[in-house]
Amino acid sequence: MSAVWSRTVERGDDGALRVGGCDVRQLAGEFGTPLYIVDEADLRARAAAFRDHFTAAFGRHGTKCDVYYASKSFLSSRVTRWMLDEDLRMDVASGGELEIALRGGMPPERIGLHGNNKSDAEIERALKVGVGRIVVDSFDEIAILDAIAFELGVTAPVMVRVTTGVHAGGHEYIATSHEDQKFGLSLASGAAIEALRRVHAAESLELQGIHTHIGSQILSIDAFRESATRMFGLRAEFAAESGVEMPEVDLGGGYAISYVPGAEALEPERAAFEIADAVAEALKEAGGTWPRMSIEPGRAISGPAGMTLYRVGVVKTVNLEEGGHRTYVAVDGGMSDNMRPITYGAEYSATLAARLSEEPPALSRVVGKHCESGDVLVRNVELPGDVSRGDLLAVPATGAYGRVMANNYNGLLRPAVISVKDGQAQVHVRRDTMEDLLSWDVAPE
Ligand code: LLP
Repeated sequence: MSAVWSRTVERGDDGALRVGGCDVRQLAGEFGTPLYIVDEADLRARAAAFRDHFTAAFGRHGTKCDVYYASKSFLSSRVTRWMLDEDLRMDVASGGELEIALRGGMPPERIGLHGNNKSDAEIERALKVGVGRIVVDSFDEIAILDAIAFELGVTAPVMVRVTTGVHAGGHEYIATSHEDQKFGLSLASGAAIEALRRVHAAESLELQGIHTHIGSQILSIDAFRESATRMFGLRAEFAAESGVEMPEVDLGGGYAISYVPGAEALEPERAAFEIADAVAEALKEAGGTWPRMSIEPGRAISGPAGMTLYRVGVVKTVNLEEGGHRTYVAVDGGMSDNMRPITYGAEYSATLAARLSEEPPALSRVVGKHCESGDVLVRNVELPGDVSRGDLLAVPATGAYGRVMANNYNGLLRPAVISVKDGQAQVHVRRDTMEDLLSWDVAPE
């Protein structure tokens, strides 16, 4: 299978896909469709690759690099357990993600809490359980965090989220470090260094370091190089005025994956050494001793490990204005289980999952069952001309930002997430039931 599929996916002699040693027909029968399927071996191997390559790359320079899995990309207590087994840490972006990470057994000191607008309750909970770091995002938060930590009689470990001005990544909605957006404290305006002064001066805060995340779907090392240069410049500037050399620098996540066959990805094998060398240069230029480094990949760990399995319902052929035809293949899910195409114009591919076909391919569009013409899952894909009701279709690379962004639009039930390995399947997140849906509605007396 092409690189866009997770590593254990294979097509059997009968034409049906197998993943983690499980036949997709059986999985569809047992768990229903749509179904998110996570390839455990693949996801773990990706986590291990980040750990090993970044440890080796920064190890050459004599420092450590921690890998925080960005749990917003996909979170379950089982996946948390895997991350712990693979010696990763975890980034959570809300009180809800924090609770699932804790339920999965992630030790609080290995958890970092993010968020541009953390509530008092979230801050209090994080401090009470003793998370390893809180990434502060505003002056308001510095004051609130200090006050709450003081009240609780604890010292809060703090990283300051810096907006470096580096504009990187795919769609505008997933670029996060240019000036005109909501995250972080701006380097250019002086807000970042002022935040460092305030955290350093605060009685109940301990300044651990600086954090930045420049965006997602980043392919070029240059963006990380520029970001490192600016971050180490800031670190040196603060050291010069305060005498404090911050012990940690986090460069965030954003490693690109390939969503469609042939598209490039930023593999950790390559990224680790190039980024470590870029950081070494930045440090040399700015001056100072090596900090402990950290990174926060999400989709590059969970994305390629997941696929979605759909059942075809209706097939329709329409005439195109420019001549020719297009086949609309409607499946039993849609924009509610994969928000990425309608939100970011994201592209995916699809394949017939339970059989092969000798029919010539037809230009097809995979659509969902929502009441919206924009409810498109795969804009253009060649599928065999005989695809019909009852066929299974698989869409690869849906492991990140799929189930975690799913909703119940049009009263659809959110699919289950299962993982597969060595012929065994485990449920991570159960499918919504009609009873769930009715229970959220408060009926009149
Ligand atoms: N660290 C921080 C602080 C972040 O904000 C993010 C993503 C990550 C790490 C992980 O980024 P990744 O390695 O997964 O690209 N829903 C969008 C992505 C939003 C990402 C927001 N922050 C999508 O589906 O593309």
